[in-house]
Amino acid sequence: MGKSRILIIGVTGNLGYHLANASLEFSHPTFALVRDSAFSDPLKSQKLQSLSNAGVTLLKGSLQDEGSLVEAIKQVDVVISAVSSGQVLDQKLLIKLIKQAGTIKPAVQRFIPAEFGVDPDKVQISGQGYGLYSRKAEIRRFLEAEGIPYTCISCNLFMSLLLPFLAQPDLDTPPRDKFTIFGDGNTKGVFVKESDVAAFTISAVDDPRTLNKVVHLRPPGNVHSMSELVETWESKIGRKLERTHVTEEELLRKIKETPYPLNMKMTFIYSAFVKGDHTYFDIESSGGVDGIKLYPQVKYTTISEFLDTLL
Ligand SMILES: NC(=O)c1ccc[n+]([C@@H]2O[C@H](COP(=O)([O-])OP(=O)(O)OC[C@H]3O[C@@H](n4cnc5c(N)ncnc54)[C@H](OP(=O)(O)O)[C@@H]3O)[C@@H](O)[C@H]2O)c1
Repeated sequence: MGKSRILIIGVTGNLGYHLANASLEFSHPTFALVRDSAFSDPLKSQKLQSLSNAGVTLLKGSLQDEGSLVEAIKQVDVVISAVSSGQVLDQKLLIKLIKQAGTIKPAVQRFIPAEFGVDPDKVQISGQGYGLYSRKAEIRRFLEAEGIPYTCISCNLFMSLLLPFLAQPDLDTPPRDKFTIFGDGNTKGVFVKESDVAAFTISAVDDPRTLNKVVHLRPPGNVHSMSELVETWESKIGRKLERTHVTEEELLRKIKETPYPLNMKMTFIYSAFVKGDHTYFDIESSGGVDGIKLYPQVKYTTISEFLDTLL
């Protein structure tokens, strides 16, 4: 069997661009559905030019344009959506059309929805921050109800989200003197670089072991508590940082007092390092599959290697 043909929606975005490059790297015929407006944006058109030069077939369309979706779906075996979290519910038309297409042509073999984060069925936070996850959970239920083949990628947090400032919400760069530990300091979060998330995702698209499953990514070397994070950083800069502790109650109060979207950084810290949403459950006994065990050949950047880039 040849390599599956992959359609990616969202290639002008952060993760989507990495997915398109990984798809090419793994020799999949690669298609991208691109909104008209992206071609007139200087940065996005540069990305599109580079993808097109590398062999991606660009198709014009959008999640709202039924005709363009039908035409694009006809040409591929796998559809990956990498639209941003605000657009997650707009995937419903696409999912319905994938289902319909299955009755008139060889069906799409796999749909990968725009998740790529903390497992929305496992996250233990509530309130405004939960909206992000409730939409993703709603799409999971929709996929199950429509009965189309899917794989969800639960990569936990992108490295670019909290690590550039070592999970210190008031900073933009890593701390050199003081470090705030939220919670007990021992609860572990997981951080994966976007290009590595893309490589694991493309590895999973044709794999029968990942059919209708959630693939969890917890690479060894990428699972750190706040105490481990600061210790790794201290060993690199060669000095000790003064620690301050913030309890769960204090952090929750700060999150409430801080307006959206600024409170989201703190919400991610709360979810990762206080609630332990990335690591509190066992992957296999909860019905998921472990992407690190499935694809040991994928080389990835560890937290320590990422922190080296911040020195
Ligand atoms: N785990 C984490 O830490 C983390 C962090 C961020 C994001 N994520 C997840 O990663 C995934 C991708 O997010 P991202 O931040 O990479 O996205 P992004 O950079 O905001 O890019 C979104 C892409 O979707 C396209 N798009 C938006 N609406 C569309 C529509 N109606 N029709 C067609 N294309 C549309 C955009 O195209 P235009 O160029 O036309 O606007 C753009 O290419 C999401 O599932 C998100 O939840 C995870």
